[in-house]
Amino acid sequence: MRKILLALSICCGLFAQAQESPIAIVPEPVSIVMPATAGRYLVSPASKIGLAGKGLENSADFFNEYLQKSFGYKLDVKSPGKKTDIILTLSRTSNPVSGAYTLSVDTKGITISGHDELGVFYGIQTLLQLIPTAETNHTLPTPFVNISDYPRFAYRGLMLDVGRHFFDVNFVKKYIDFLALHKMNYFHWHLTDDQGWRIEIKKYPKLTEKGAWRNGTIIGNYPGKGNDNTRSGGFYTQEEIKDIVKYAEKRYITIIPEIEMPGHASAAIAAYPELSCFPDEATKTYYFNPNSAWAGDSTGKQVQQIWGVCRDVFVPSENTFKFLEGVLDEVIALFPSKYIHVGGDECPKDNWKRSEFCQQLMKEKGLKDEHALQSYFIQRMEKYINSKGRSIIGWDEILEGGLAPNATVMSWRGEDGGIEAANSGHNVVMTPNTYVYFDYAQSKKEDSVVIGGYLPLDKVYNYEPLPTALPADKQKFILGAQANVWTEYMDNPSKVEYMIFPRMSALSEVLWSQKEKRSFANFQQKLPLQIKRYLLWGINYSKAFYEPQADGASVK
Ligand code: ACM
Repeated sequence: MRKILLALSICCGLFAQAQESPIAIVPEPVSIVMPATAGRYLVSPASKIGLAGKGLENSADFFNEYLQKSFGYKLDVKSPGKKTDIILTLSRTSNPVSGAYTLSVDTKGITISGHDELGVFYGIQTLLQLIPTAETNHTLPTPFVNISDYPRFAYRGLMLDVGRHFFDVNFVKKYIDFLALHKMNYFHWHLTDDQGWRIEIKKYPKLTEKGAWRNGTIIGNYPGKGNDNTRSGGFYTQEEIKDIVKYAEKRYITIIPEIEMPGHASAAIAAYPELSCFPDEATKTYYFNPNSAWAGDSTGKQVQQIWGVCRDVFVPSENTFKFLEGVLDEVIALFPSKYIHVGGDECPKDNWKRSEFCQQLMKEKGLKDEHALQSYFIQRMEKYINSKGRSIIGWDEILEGGLAPNATVMSWRGEDGGIEAANSGHNVVMTPNTYVYFDYAQSKKEDSVVIGGYLPLDKVYNYEPLPTALPADKQKFILGAQANVWTEYMDNPSKVEYMIFPRMSALSEVLWSQKEKRSFANFQQKLPLQIKRYLLWGINYSKAFYEPQADGASVK
């Protein structure tokens, strides 16, 4: 029946208006109470914001920037007085969780009261969804309501892979805004990979002179239908990174930088061949399928032009550790994050098996196999990172050969790695490919090139980060979850937006909203208004949820 109704609403072209509710907050708050007497407070260009507390300027600035972009004006900000329309204040809420807030709209105006600065910032995000997406007579009628809210999980993340395709500073900032608007708090920035090194390291300039650029890219899905023969790439200067870190801080978002090791290292090896087990061997221009086309020079070490898992990985030598420590010194100076991501995934052991140096090292260190060598590599880097007062986070392969102490695990190959890590007392961020890989198709008849897989909106929405297989006393180790945006098949910002929306909005409810408040039926009701917001933000999004699928059924 629901499918018939949905089909009807699509036929009539009404879905964007039909079931729109005046209050549609995403992610769903803990409590929304409508007063007995309905009404609206009119926000207008003459409205004033009052700040009653320290550190609330970030929240007022974010609100004003949104108004400026959307409606062309900003509001005056002052100390609260009789004529203040919107008051931002701090007070202990009944639920003492960082990020908790209450918001009320009545005849007198709008009050956002945060448990802390963060709470006020999240209250602002809710207010931005209470105001309409279009003005009425130069006003923004805002419904009377009382909202009380706080987050469910402490870690609410989204990753962006800028290694496969480079995205400029403006888009990275836009991406950070998407996180803020969804009350998310971790931006995992995947900065290095086989196809490009994206962060300026002053001690090792060739990383970006050579490692940030490739001579071509395969066309279409691996192994590709030819090569585009176009040089592409780019990197962030340290000044740009400082600017982005500051931008994120003003939005209460922590950036976790990722420097991949020991695998996915082709771009670094192209810059410094001595980081390979076999510095004199040319880069393989294909992995298993010899049909990939290559552009330009194929001698010596090259930045990769094809997608997949490359066997030329870091040699675990003193020289490599010294190099990585030099890189991390600069990374740590740029990023205040407690976590430094060391990758650790998809490191084929082929080269380590045939390297005399690696075999000798394993004997000397008493390492029983190459998995133990991977563990030795990661634990060594962990000690260095710990000595700088930071902690490592890595993909679930860091469990191989024994888990490094103090490590936080990102469980990506399903949930098992996360369950194993939590059972042994390690903190975990769930990022299972089965539920939160936003590079997977959202439609069964996707017509753009994507990596494969099928991850429709409701599957993301219904994801539960606390695995039922995990005993109750171990659930505290699950910090939250994160979606990953691998960009092999996303070569421009619009495609990234298309792949993340509306799935990111669904994920925000998984991470923020209380479990008992989550309802896909309710989310579906809110989606038309959320889509109007996307239009206001000027972004691309997928309509797959509203399309009939190849098998005749809707995506659901
Ligand atoms: C991964 O998707 N290789 C972490």
